[in-house]
Amino acid sequence: SAERTFIMIKPDGVQRGLVGQIVQRFEQRGYKLVSMKFTQPTKELLEEHYADLKQKGFFPSLIAYMLSGPVVPMVWEGKDVVKQGRQMLGQTNPLASLPGSIRGDFSIDIGRNICHGSDSVESAQKEIALWFKETELTQWKSST
Ligand code: CMP
Repeated sequence: SAERTFIMIKPDGVQRGLVGQIVQRFEQRGYKLVSMKFTQPTKELLEEHYADLKQKGFFPSLIAYMLSGPVVPMVWEGKDVVKQGRQMLGQTNPLASLPGSIRGDFSIDIGRNICHGSDSVESAQKEIALWFKETELTQWKSST
């Protein structure tokens, strides 16, 4: 089956009204939306999502920021979507992100970098399973 990635619009992306523009970039590139929701994540879910970063000094502020409002977790599918999706997002540090990328166009603060994208096919599978139930993953044919 086709490659899938997990992309999440973080609270600052929602608060700044960027949901539509971010979804549009993936649609217009030709990727297929498999699932999407608008949800206020629990602390437990976020701590699991960011389990690898638990030892980092910024972990508490990262969790507080992610709890500051609703997020938009999404599953996108298509050719090379994990790597291409990360290029579309830009670098983790928005100041290292090229104009044309989401972070390069919309952000300057690493602690408010608008969106998250899986860093590998394996983390994508883990993150999709963490945020979505199997029954929430749709099957449909796009025309592109
Ligand atoms: P994300 O791609 O979601 O993966 C881990 C997140 O940790 C990252 O985006 C940033 O939001 C955050 N992060 C990484 N490094 C730092 C840092 N030095 N200071 C604050 N937040 C960071």
